[in-house]
Amino acid sequence: MTRSLSKKARDILLLNDHGGYTVPAAELYPYQWNWDSAFVALGFAVFNHDRAWQELETLFSGQWDDGFLPHIIFHVDDSGYFPGAAVWGTNKTPQTSGITQPPVAASVTRWLLNTNEKIGKARAAALYPKLLAWHRWFHTYRDPLKNGLVLCVHPWESGRDNSPEWDAPAARVDTSSVEPYRRRDLALVDQGMRPSNQEYDQYIALLQHGRSQNWNHAAIADTGPFRVFDVGMSMILLRANRDLLALADRFGTSEECEELQARIKLSEDNIHYLWSDAIGAYGSRDAKTGNHFEMVTSASFLAFYAGVGGDRERAALMANFERIDGMVRYMMPSFDPAHPKFDPIRYWCGPIWAVVNKMIALGLIEMGHTKAGQRIVRDTCSIIEQSGFRESYSPVTGEGTGGSDFSWTAAIWLHLSENRSATSPGVAVPHKLEPE
Ligand code: DGY
Repeated sequence: MTRSLSKKARDILLLNDHGGYTVPAAELYPYQWNWDSAFVALGFAVFNHDRAWQELETLFSGQWDDGFLPHIIFHVDDSGYFPGAAVWGTNKTPQTSGITQPPVAASVTRWLLNTNEKIGKARAAALYPKLLAWHRWFHTYRDPLKNGLVLCVHPWESGRDNSPEWDAPAARVDTSSVEPYRRRDLALVDQGMRPSNQEYDQYIALLQHGRSQNWNHAAIADTGPFRVFDVGMSMILLRANRDLLALADRFGTSEECEELQARIKLSEDNIHYLWSDAIGAYGSRDAKTGNHFEMVTSASFLAFYAGVGGDRERAALMANFERIDGMVRYMMPSFDPAHPKFDPIRYWCGPIWAVVNKMIALGLIEMGHTKAGQRIVRDTCSIIEQSGFRESYSPVTGEGTGGSDFSWTAAIWLHLSENRSATSPGVAVPHKLEPE
């Protein structure tokens, strides 16, 4: 079973390879997406290291002069996706969107280098300054409190598009000037598994706002209608800064190392801003009102991946882990199953995402919660065995949701099955992102 699934996983990556970059899913997402590509590189690394590096290099061909790395690179026009390059109107070559996505590329770069030093050394050295520029961009434009925690200005930036965390801030977005448009996603995926039309109107209104500001990132972060401190983005950036520091140690200057050390310390010192005693977990906050949304999501458990929290916070998070485990068949739902807004099949309101599971499992195992981490890995493999390489999965039944033949799910399967532990037969252990 493992061998035939691994063959299928490779076939999906090759099928979705558009020559140097991989589309997340053939029709649903026909361009290069930022964090998708970083995870896809982990899959290619299992059978073609050169191609894995190429995925990251092609992604950075879309980097702007100020270091910003867009969430979509529109290498070739495709009328099957909305909103396409012309709607974004960023006027870049190659054409890109105007918002970013969770910065996992530095962590993947470090991992690729550690697994194959010979192929990776020159490639990592060339990528390092680009990664540094992107991370600096976050700290320049997205850290308004100068506390190391970062803003998202569009739900799509968080990667967790329709997480109920975003309902209250998105409700303030004025959608009255959105012209009629046709959603292409609904021709491909059941509406019950996708964001609502109202949420789509908000996405498009926010896009229009960015465009009206000529994609001036300072103006959008200062006055944009949607501004949230995203727990996922902050945890992922903190982890990525640690991985970038390891790269800086080899390829950067001592000033750059000090700069990154200071950033890491700042984020560690202030991560408590995202903590809520009411839920016993880290979560996101509204930058406009300061309100904590007080919702437990899969991103709350990225605290382990980011290596933050003291004994008290970790114990409370593990209590949430046990509670959620008692409510679903497969871990980790993207949203709290005890919350009235939980929906096991609707995108980020409940379904499991293999890439988030990979990060949670890695963090749990690194922090000594081996059983819980292995549970996540086992469940990720089980739902793929049961339902194939889908976009996401119901935590209640394991049924596949969203798109099919999905690149990052195939990549995570290859990555996990390649790193099976000899001491725990049948249980895949994610590779540690530690220096060799
Ligand atoms: C979409 O189109 O659904 C994407 O998530 C945007 O990045």
